[in-house]
Amino acid sequence: MTGRSANFLRHVAQTSDAPISIEVDRVEGSYIYDKEGKEYLDLIAGISVANLGHANPKVQKAITDQLENYSHVMVYGEFILEPQVDLATRLAQLLPDKLDTTYFVNSGSEAVEGALKLAKRYTGRAEIISFNNAYHGSTHGALSIMGNDFYKSAFTPLLPDTRIIEFNSKNDLKEITEKTAAVIIEPVQGEAGVRIADNEFLDALRAKCDATKTLLIFDDIQAGMGRTGKLFTFEHYDIIPDIITLAKAFGGGLPLGAFISSNKIMSCLQKDPPLGHITTFGGNPLSCAAGLAFVNELLDTAIMDGVAGKAQLFEDNLNHPAIKEIRNKGLLMAVEFDSFEFNKKVIDECIANGVIVDWFLFADSSLRISPPLNISDEDITKACEILSNAIENIN
Ligand SMILES: Cc1ncc(COP(=O)(O)O)c(C=O)c1O
Repeated sequence: MTGRSANFLRHVAQTSDAPISIEVDRVEGSYIYDKEGKEYLDLIAGISVANLGHANPKVQKAITDQLENYSHVMVYGEFILEPQVDLATRLAQLLPDKLDTTYFVNSGSEAVEGALKLAKRYTGRAEIISFNNAYHGSTHGALSIMGNDFYKSAFTPLLPDTRIIEFNSKNDLKEITEKTAAVIIEPVQGEAGVRIADNEFLDALRAKCDATKTLLIFDDIQAGMGRTGKLFTFEHYDIIPDIITLAKAFGGGLPLGAFISSNKIMSCLQKDPPLGHITTFGGNPLSCAAGLAFVNELLDTAIMDGVAGKAQLFEDNLNHPAIKEIRNKGLLMAVEFDSFEFNKKVIDECIANGVIVDWFLFADSSLRISPPLNISDEDITKACEILSNAIENIN
């Protein structure tokens, strides 16, 4: 163990007993290189962040150009900062009219906190409904609506007036009433191990929210920004949410989150009280410059069009009787095995052989594949070979 590894374990707060502990030296595209020069093909992209690969040249240039000009100047919302205004304007051009106003924050959890506050403030109601196996972040509000007791029960009491219902259950929609401020849903649930909302279910959810004047929030933090082959997950469906949350890949590798709604809804953060939601660093100029370069690059290239084909290539190359199921929406993929123990051994063997994979928080027998969206076909074939060999060796 090097001195730095020991210091990592001793002085950087740990969240588990077994961190992956690769000491990063440099990155390029789909690859991470450690201090010994070993290369790792990154099949998880920093948990769905590096959607254009690591150190994308266009994004890097936008960051360095902005850095040479200015970074933090003033708390969020007071000064006119070009990268922030330009990114909000670009999003407004890409989104329907009812989603034309962006509030920038620093992370996914913060985006969710902002969205929940906005819904409570706008509707004057308190109740928030979320779904079984939902993951919306680790802060108190986001944790309160997590659809998994194991990870939240040690932190109670949490927010009152929260309720968890069954994903894809039209029957459970009866729980949504005139008391409900918002329903928050990941149309493609990530940490549940890639569970996809049915079209019909989302139609019924939208109708119920309309009938009860409840705001519908789509959490696109993990599945948005091209991961499913579309910039926003609602584009796979026929409905439009009232609020969208973004983060992860949105900042092009820098910390950036957002909650997005209509100007009318958003304006209630302006008065009674004013400054209804404030942040020092939200919408930092560096992060917004990176985010704008990321969004532009994603849209200026055919990368999103290639997502379905690349997902298919993974599926075609992963055939083993130990694989129970492969679930995916684009390049958010879950490869399901019999048990966590088996999955963990496969993951360890893959990492030892230079392919980084992981499991899902609420689906620990499923192996996570969420690579850069521009991963090459050769790298997919190579990764599948290493993964298949790992499965075979352990089986
Ligand atoms: C769907 C979803 N929402 C919210 C979050 C929280 O984002 P962050 O970790 O940036 O706070 C995550 C993170 O994994 C997520 O997947």
